[in-house]
Amino acid sequence: MRRTTRELVEVAGRTSSLSYAPQPVVLERGEGMWLEDREGERYLDFMAGIAVSSLGHAHPALMEALHGQVDRLLHVSNAFLTEPQVLLQEALVQASFADRVFFCNSGAEANEAGIKLARRYQRIVRGSSRFEVVVFARGFHGRTYGALSATAQPKYHRGFEPMVPGFVEAEFNDLESVKGAIGPHTAAILVEPIQGEGGIVPPCDGFLAGLRTLCDENGLVLIFDEVQCGMGRTGHLFAYEGFGVEPDIMSLAKGIGGGVPLGAMLARESVARGFERGSHATTYGGNPLAAAAGLAVLHVLQEDGFLERVRDVGAYFRARAEEAKSRCPGIREVRGLGLMNGIEVDLEATAASAVVVAARRQGLLINTAGGNVLRFVPPLIATRRDVDEAFRRLLKALGDTETVAGHD
Ligand SMILES: Cc1ncc(COP(=O)(O)O)c(C=O)c1O
Repeated sequence: MRRTTRELVEVAGRTSSLSYAPQPVVLERGEGMWLEDREGERYLDFMAGIAVSSLGHAHPALMEALHGQVDRLLHVSNAFLTEPQVLLQEALVQASFADRVFFCNSGAEANEAGIKLARRYQRIVRGSSRFEVVVFARGFHGRTYGALSATAQPKYHRGFEPMVPGFVEAEFNDLESVKGAIGPHTAAILVEPIQGEGGIVPPCDGFLAGLRTLCDENGLVLIFDEVQCGMGRTGHLFAYEGFGVEPDIMSLAKGIGGGVPLGAMLARESVARGFERGSHATTYGGNPLAAAAGLAVLHVLQEDGFLERVRDVGAYFRARAEEAKSRCPGIREVRGLGLMNGIEVDLEATAASAVVVAARRQGLLINTAGGNVLRFVPPLIATRRDVDEAFRRLLKALGDTETVAGHD
């Protein structure tokens, strides 16, 4: 017999996935920007499974690619080639600074691969003993030990110490602090071009270019973690394009598979030489199902006008958010690029989480980042009309019931 929602919530509480505390909603289907729970309640999705469902839900191109692949072949391991994987590799290389691609299953794994490659490049190709990686306060790179050690946020380390050695912390948007962190053992700088979990913090003018210069001057590898900000999220296929600064290594995940677990680490040929056959590997990485999803997503992002629309709707979002700020004393700051936006509220972290719950009750799905920042990372298919609808619901959730005029 079909379990009731209440029963499922009770079982979940008892058997716990040992991860987040989920909201007591059981989602069952989705279409476009909307999700529906088992009771038929509909939610406007401005969270996209934490910046993952880049084409929204049940996008026809993604569904067709997945159904076609499911019926043919699911997995063979990286001991063999499959067409979707090779084509996705080629497409990523053609679209980016990189010459080589390593596929994996998540953002943390992509960062592990990037950190390992940077160290091994220094050791094996350059014959140096450099191993340290400069990372940034409030950065986030994942929960595995290497990626966690690179995550300079004590709250994520608590109880898990000791961390992997070799990570040195600097301040984001502060080149002087980076210079101070670089020493004779420094191998690489690892940075999110726009900090995500840390509260949606864009780089200030010249910061990323300054990191590039420091890397060039000191023989360091520049690693961009574009797990959250890559794959169209900023209105550029890769965030680095918008800043005009190329890394040597880049990690991707989240949006790349449109909801199917997929990650990738991309590298320039010169640095990629740090890995020889078998230096690093994974069983599932880039399996045909995930790669077919990745290809379908990439083709949609590359359609004429798609990324331009992301930039337009993103700018519209920030204009609506600024308008809301002028009327809502609780809104402190609006930050973001493309469809990666944050609204910092004048509340404690727990109260910001309460806004997330209130928004869900108004049929709007969002989450927080960096404590008191409401994070908006909707599917990249969002329209101005969706933004209007999101603000109508958000303002109700914030306790401002005024109707705000919107346009399409
Ligand atoms: C910038 C960044 N890097 C890495 C990760 C980790 O990705 P995953 O959860 O897929 O391991 C995240 C996840 O939020 C992220 O935002």
